[in-house]
Amino acid sequence: MITATKSPLDEYLSRQRAMYTEDRTLPDGTAQDSARANVDLMPRDGWILDAGCRCQSAQAVWAEAGLARTVGIDLFPRIDVHPGLLAVVGDIRRMPFPDSSFAAVNCRDTLEHVPDPDVAASEMWRVLAPGGILVVDGPVGDGGYPAHYTVFGSEDDYRGLFPEGEPVAGATAVLAIRKPGPPAGRST
Ligand SMILES: C[S@@+](CC[C@H](N)C(=O)[O-])C[C@H]1O[C@@H](n2cnc3c(N)ncnc32)[C@H](O)[C@@H]1O
Repeated sequence: MITATKSPLDEYLSRQRAMYTEDRTLPDGTAQDSARANVDLMPRDGWILDAGCRCQSAQAVWAEAGLARTVGIDLFPRIDVHPGLLAVVGDIRRMPFPDSSFAAVNCRDTLEHVPDPDVAASEMWRVLAPGGILVVDGPVGDGGYPAHYTVFGSEDDYRGLFPEGEPVAGATAVLAIRKPGPPAGRST
């Protein structure tokens, strides 16, 4: 008799999918509130990535603000909520973008879903251009959701994932940093 043992990837994907595609809808409003609170930090030029975009809520806010060059990536993006915005189906631990592609990367309430957030963090840093802005938000402590794989005990735990980042003031998020280098603002 063959007894199949679920691989970690099976378990991971099924838990993420169960949480977000079967019996739960994700509130768009709180994600939009968060994006609005930080919209002034977003560069006016260059591409902006939302890592773990889900309903593309942040992208919708950026579009309202005149920031048109945005792309979201998610294991299970909901592209029906804000039609017309660009989204990629994918894993933030291995993204299909060249190095230094983005003038800004946003990642809200997603790193805690990833079993190896250091891998996702390295990948976000890789695709962020020198001078680019990274805004990360998420829970401190255990939110208790079944689709959470990582608990961040403090804001410093988020900060520690990006040791080269230079603090940026004025964000409503656990972390807002700049990648050292020339300021973002040119087309990437
Ligand atoms: C709590 S939702 C947050 C969505 C959105 N950022 C927001 O603020 O509303 C977490 C999202 O992370 C996505 N996710 C989890 N692990 C992922 C991964 N490895 N790569 C891409 N997306 C992932 C899930 O599919 C889900 O859409």
